[in-house]
Amino acid sequence: MNHQLTSILLGFLCFSFIGIKAQDTNSEIIKAIDHDKMQWFKEAKLGIFIHWGIYAVDGISESWSFYNEYLTHEDYLEQRNGFTATKYKPQEWAQLIKDSGAQYSVVTSKHHDGFALWNTKFGSLNAVSHSAAEKDVLSPLVKALRKKDLKIGIYFSLPDWSSELYTHFTSTKKRYSIEEDPLRWQQYLNYMNNQLQELKNNYSPDLWWFDGDWEHSSEAWKSAKIRTSLLKDAPKTIINSRLSGQGDYQTPEIGAPVYRPEAKYWELCMTINDSWGYQQADTNYKTSQQILDIFVDCISKGGNLLLDIGPKADGTIDPIQKDRLLKLGSWIKKHHKAVYETTRGIPYEHFYGPTTLSKDKQTLYLYVRDIPKDGKIVVKGISNAIHRAYVVGNGSILNQQKISKLYWNQYPGISYIQLPKDTIDPYYTVVALVLDGPIRLYSDQNGAVEQN
Ligand code: GLC
Repeated sequence: MNHQLTSILLGFLCFSFIGIKAQDTNSEIIKAIDHDKMQWFKEAKLGIFIHWGIYAVDGISESWSFYNEYLTHEDYLEQRNGFTATKYKPQEWAQLIKDSGAQYSVVTSKHHDGFALWNTKFGSLNAVSHSAAEKDVLSPLVKALRKKDLKIGIYFSLPDWSSELYTHFTSTKKRYSIEEDPLRWQQYLNYMNNQLQELKNNYSPDLWWFDGDWEHSSEAWKSAKIRTSLLKDAPKTIINSRLSGQGDYQTPEIGAPVYRPEAKYWELCMTINDSWGYQQADTNYKTSQQILDIFVDCISKGGNLLLDIGPKADGTIDPIQKDRLLKLGSWIKKHHKAVYETTRGIPYEHFYGPTTLSKDKQTLYLYVRDIPKDGKIVVKGISNAIHRAYVVGNGSILNQQKISKLYWNQYPGISYIQLPKDTIDPYYTVVALVLDGPIRLYSDQNGAVEQN
């Protein structure tokens, strides 16, 4: 079988894996949340995830392809020779991320395969000494992202399946168990913590994005100690929930929560097609409409979207991935008032669609995906007077009609808001309702008879 065909086949084999252990990664978060430090995160709404590693060479799934024994570890590592980064332009990546409307980016410094993108003094697998690129590809990216005023998230896999010091190797082969050889495990932890300190010193990340905690208990990882050491002299750094109970926010994966999560801070990480890393054979790209559907869903439920891209081994980014980011960015730019610095919206009983509220709760944003046949959208049970209704990013003031509002009871009536055809956005039209004060939702069960 020729090389390309093998890659395609492997690619298909690997798609199916996504999401299998997602549930247990959405673990507990710490009790005492520092709300002050979460502020930028809460208002950011969009981050771009970058999965870049040697797995992009053959276009197979990151780390899992050898872990699940679709190919040998040796063959997997062969990809290092194809990881050239010859056309890598970190400034262009940073510009693209900025243009997507994202406020932060999370970069895989090291995935479960143990391949480090930076010039680490620890371990024996990194882009400088062990790949065709022969250079540190992480530092220039962090620098470029900072220059664009983007917050930096460092993804770090707790497991390193390539390390002789680590317990797990593949799904059927374990090197040892911690009980059998606690000393070896301690050596692994030393190696891992040394790398974390190195990353901390090099990049002072705003956010740590851990992964893979499911393989051991919190006690085994000594996750509380990791948290303490990472927050030392950097108390405002945010940590995701995959540090076994030591994170600040929840990290659902792929599946957008159907019901509003209870958590105050959460972020959905999501692939742009069905793969985290670049897989040429994976053409199941989400359309711009679908990406916006998920994005709007997240922000209306009070969360962030961390949308993933997978750059190629030569450092270029697939035109489809670029296109998706740019389209998302231009929609966000047009509607920025209704996106950043908003909070989650109101229950669907009041409006059959996603909504957000301005920070002062005096403006309600309605996201209209499908245009009603009479051009009218319906809002119910808002006790405030609606001072003004207008189309965000367009400015048109909209006509409103209120029905069932009588002087003798409290029932606030039903508002019909007319959307002219020329105000319709190709993806989501956003209507702002400027209220007479912070929103008051009417929830009285029998308001209609109160004054009879
Ligand atoms: C998972 C996978 C991993 C991927 C990550 C992104 O935990 O193991 O391959 O990088 O999710 O969220």
